[in-house]
Parts: sequence; C-alpha cells; structure tokens
Amino acid sequence: MTKSAKDYIIFPLDVTSVSDLKYYVKLLSNYVGMFKIGLELFIRSGPDTVKIIKDMSEAGIFLDLKLHDIPETVRRASESIASLGVDLTTAHCAETSEMLKAAVSGCKEKTGVLGVTLLTSVSSIDIQNAGFENQYCADISKLVLKRAKTAKEAGCKGVVCSGLEVGLIKKTFGKDFVAVTPGIRPAWNLSEKDDQKRITKPADAIKNGSDYLVIGRPIRDAKNPLDAAIMTAQEIEIALEQINK
Ligand code: C5P
Repeated sequence: MTKSAKDYIIFPLDVTSVSDLKYYVKLLSNYVGMFKIGLELFIRSGPDTVKIIKDMSEAGIFLDLKLHDIPETVRRASESIASLGVDLTTAHCAETSEMLKAAVSGCKEKTGVLGVTLLTSVSSIDIQNAGFENQYCADISKLVLKRAKTAKEAGCKGVVCSGLEVGLIKKTFGKDFVAVTPGIRPAWNLSEKDDQKRITKPADAIKNGSDYLVIGRPIRDAKNPLDAAIMTAQEIEIALEQINK
C-alpha cells in the first residue's frame, strides 16, 4: 500500500484523560497515520489506552516511553511493551549499546525500537553545560550521528531526531533506517514559542527524508485541530510531489 501524506503524521496524545484521548482519536483517525501514547497519558491511564485506540481506529500506535535504565530492566519492560501489540516504541541512545540491544531483544521483532538520539528541546548550549566535548557543542549533528550509529548497530529500527539531522542520518545509514522527527512547526504556527529548539517545517523535514513527523501542539492547540491536521497533510503532499518531480 502506498503511503499517503497523512500517513507521515504521528499525533501525540498528550492529554490528561481518557475522554480527551477518545475525542482526538475519533476526530483525527482518518487524518493521521499513527497515534503516539507518551508518558503523560500512560502514567495516568496505563495500557488500557492501547486497547481503546485499537478499538476505535486503524491507525498505528507508537508507545513512546523513552526507556533509560539497566539493560535487564529495559529488556523486561520492552517485553511488556511488545505484548501490548504496538508498532513502535523508544529507548534513549545516550546510555549504552547494551541497553539498546536489551530493548530490541525484549521487543522480539513484534515492536520496532527507535533510539532517541538527542531531544529536539536540547540546544548546543545545553550540550556544553552538560560537559560534552567541544566538537559536539560546535556541531550537534555529530552527537546525533554518533548516537544513531549506536542505535543502528544495536538493531534498532530507526531513530528519533530533528528534521535538521535527518538528511545526514539517511545518507549515512540508508533509507530503510527509519527517521521519526519531532519539533515540527508549520509556517502557520511559527510565532508560538515553546520548549522545542531544533525545529523544522513539515515540508523541510519531508524533503530532508523524514519517514514520520510528530506534530503535537500545532494540531492539539489549534482553534480547529482537524483543519490543522488537514493543512499539515497538504503541506506534506506538496513536498512529496516536489521530491517525486
Ligand atoms: O509538537 P510538539 O512539540 O507538541 O510535540 C511534543 C511531543 O513530541 C511530545 O509527545 C514529546 O514527547 C514528543 N517529542 C519527542 N522527541 C523529541 C521532542 C518531542 O518524542 N525530541
């Protein structure tokens, strides 16, 4: 089945209640490719959220728990994640290759593991303050690439990275290594200031090679979230047409 523009959109269900979850799933089911359950919703409402989405929608499910613990704990947690029947999940790349391998082994090819390279809310100054070598502070993409290499070698399906690094990741690891890009800010939302720092527009992320765009607040907080999702898909479609020309 060919991927349409809406299939590139992952909508994070960053909401506090099951009734809000149901509202957005019902509203956006035919307008996005995947729903993401993150810490906020999972801590409040747990694994039932996966079943609720499955009962309401054919969209994919990404359980984004960003695991970061000792390998055995990550392996066992990943087994539990895979048993829920979700398509994608995440573990941080920042620790060790063993930790990522444990995530992949726990998921047993039932659920794809994405390595979180460097959060899009992190800037060069943050890296410097955290004590990283100058070469990484001067060029953040070097750190992202180094972490993506760890993820690739550990058997991850792909990585989460900003739209600014995705071109380099695709060039280095090939088109089949999945790149999921948060920090997406459509042109009509650029004036809104928030915690995201390494941001890209949907069209730019697509042109750089992103396989999926995580787009939360620009849709969730829009006056009309459905129109916002449709406008984003239109922007993606134009970018795809330009690539295929
Ligand atoms: O579009 P917005 O900034 O609202 O997206 C926020 C969502 O993206 C949250 O669910 C957050 O967990 C996720 N995210 C991510 N990786 C990042 C940045 C944000 O998964 N690097």
